[in-house]
Amino acid sequence: MDETVITIRRARRDDARDIAEVHDAAWRDAYRGLIPGRELECMIARRGPSWWDAAIARGSRLLVLDFDDAIGGYASYGRNRVPALPHRGEIFELYLAPHFQGLGFGRRLFEAVRADLADHGYPSLLVWALADNERALAFYERLGGKLIRSAPERFGAEMRERIAFGFE
Ligand SMILES: CC(C)(COP(=O)(O)OP(=O)(O)OC[C@H]1O[C@@H](n2cnc3c(N)ncnc32)[C@H](O)[C@@H]1OP(=O)(O)O)[C@@H](O)C(=O)NCCC(=O)NCCS
Repeated sequence: MDETVITIRRARRDDARDIAEVHDAAWRDAYRGLIPGRELECMIARRGPSWWDAAIARGSRLLVLDFDDAIGGYASYGRNRVPALPHRGEIFELYLAPHFQGLGFGRRLFEAVRADLADHGYPSLLVWALADNERALAFYERLGGKLIRSAPERFGAEMRERIAFGFE
C-alpha cells in the first residue's frame, strides 16, 4: 500500500504556484461573506505565483505542509509588528486548503512555527484573526491562545474587527 509522507518544511521557489493555489482556495473559503467581495478578489489577485516566488526568494519565513504530491497549507511568520505588545514573534498567516482542514494539520503547522520562532529567540508569539472568522477563533482558543487586543481594520469602505491571540 502506498503511504503519503507528510512533511513540514521551508518553502522552496518551485512551491510558489502551489502556495498561490492554497492561498486562493483558503481565502475564498474563509472570507467569502466576511470581507467585501471586491476587496477579497483584489487581495487574492495580488498574491499570484510571482508574489510568492519573490517572498520566498527574499528569504521570508514560510513553512509549507508537503503531502508528497501537493501543498496542503502554509504559514508565514516573523517578528511581531506591534511594538506596544510584548510578544516577540507573530504568525502573519496560517492557511490550509479546504480539504485539508479539520484533520489536525493546522495544529501541526502552528507547533512547527512556534518551535522555529522559539529556536530563533522568539519564545512568545501573537496572531491576528478577523473577529467574524469563528473557525480561526475556535482554533486559536483551543491551542491555548489568550485574547490580548482587538483593533479595527479597513476593507475598502467597510470596517471589520480583528482580534489578537497571545501565546506565552
Ligand atoms: C483555522 C485552521 C488553520 C485550523 O486548522 P485545522 O487543521 O482545521 O485545525 P486542527 O484540525 O489542527 O484543529 C486543532 C484543534 O482546534 C480545534 N478546532 C479546529 N477548528 C475548530 C472549530 N471550527 N471549532 C472548534 N474547534 C476547532 C480542533 O478540535 C482541534 O482540537 P484538538 O487538537 O484538541 O482536538 C484551518 O481550518 C484553516 O486554514 N481555516 C481557514 C483559514 C483561516 O481561517 N486561517 C486562520 C487565519 S488567521
